[in-house]
Amino acid sequence: MILVTGGAGYIGSHTVVELLNDGHEVIIADNLCNSSIEVITHIESITGKTFIFENFDLSNRDKVFEILSKYPIKAIIHFAAHKAVGESIDNPEKYYNNNICSLLNVIALGEKLKIKNFIFSSSATVYGTPQSSPISESHPVLTSNSPYGTTKIMGEKIISDVASISKTHYCLLRYFNPIGAHKSGLIGDNPNGIPNNIMPYITRVAAGNLKELSVFGSNYPTEDGTCIRDYIHVVDLAKGHVKSLENSTRTNPSIYNLGTGNGTSVLQLITTFEKVNNVSIPYKLTDRREGDITSMYANPNLALKEINWKAELTLEEMLKSSWKFQKNIKNG
Ligand code: NAD
Ligand code: UFG
Repeated sequence: MILVTGGAGYIGSHTVVELLNDGHEVIIADNLCNSSIEVITHIESITGKTFIFENFDLSNRDKVFEILSKYPIKAIIHFAAHKAVGESIDNPEKYYNNNICSLLNVIALGEKLKIKNFIFSSSATVYGTPQSSPISESHPVLTSNSPYGTTKIMGEKIISDVASISKTHYCLLRYFNPIGAHKSGLIGDNPNGIPNNIMPYITRVAAGNLKELSVFGSNYPTEDGTCIRDYIHVVDLAKGHVKSLENSTRTNPSIYNLGTGNGTSVLQLITTFEKVNNVSIPYKLTDRREGDITSMYANPNLALKEINWKAELTLEEMLKSSWKFQKNIKNG
């Protein structure tokens, strides 16, 4: 049985679908602080399979042990965390408390249960302002400009120290920019309030729920002046977790970039969205957003070599599925 913390969230829900489709038994632990109960029923209807759902706060160690010790857990995928960069600057204590305490509790549970594998959701944010792209895993981990990013750097360090004396195999997955949704249109990225990330912002503008997109900065040293990112389909990202469970290496922890290796600018993202979905995105060019990096995209070759994973879905598929999901949700 695989414990998926944060399994009702955006990336977690897609990963649960892939795990169930692959024949794994799953238990989700999530307090729905950034997700909704409908996701649970949607996962059931997509897969036609059942699983266990426990609704509680993972930063409470007593509850973690009381509720989860009774299950025959063999692996843990730890997604649960707060993830809004701006909010973490305004309320750092909330981020350190939730992201670090939950991680320590789940590690302690895994060590007690002597599980085989532990996967941690890290982020390309650990590369700080990268020296150049494509970025490989050997790029130094730099300091972060937000408490959120610092929780990822600290999380990686905590895990590296534990892994050096543990029989559990740990894996740090550094995600680039996940977008897209399941092809059913039933699960996807549906953040509360005004989105911080570009994709849910674009789909809400397309739906007429937000007036226009602000393109943050148009004088970056790139071909069209806007920032470049490595957008990856969330379903490919989800499959990366299944592959890392199935292919443990001797390195502990193992570390992989999950990205496509392709860079796309903000303006390219907007025009491709308009073209493939035949919908217009009103936008204006505005000032840069503080802390944004000019260009970052992955070198994903290590994941191909060691866990036989590579991203397969195209930008067009990412943008079509994001729009399909948006059209299915009422409140986004
Ligand atoms: P999400 O907010 O959609 O999902 C996180 C889930 O964890 C939510 O369902 C939330 O309710 C749950 N949760 C949070 N704190 C909890 C707690 N204390 N107890 C129980 N449940 C709790 O986020 P996501 O986009 O799916 O991200 C998943 C992971 O990937 C996070 O660790 C995030 O930092 C990391 N990540 C995300 C991105 C991205 O762009 N989405 C990029 C890099 C890394
Ligand atoms: N952008 C806009 N307008 C918006 C939102 C974003 O122009 O309204 C631009 C940003 O300036 C950036 C690009 O779109 O150039 C992507 O921005 P996102 O906020 O979607 O994503 P980031 O690359 O800033 O960060 C994301 C996650 C981080 C994670 C990082 C690397 O939010 O948590 O990817 O994985 F660390």
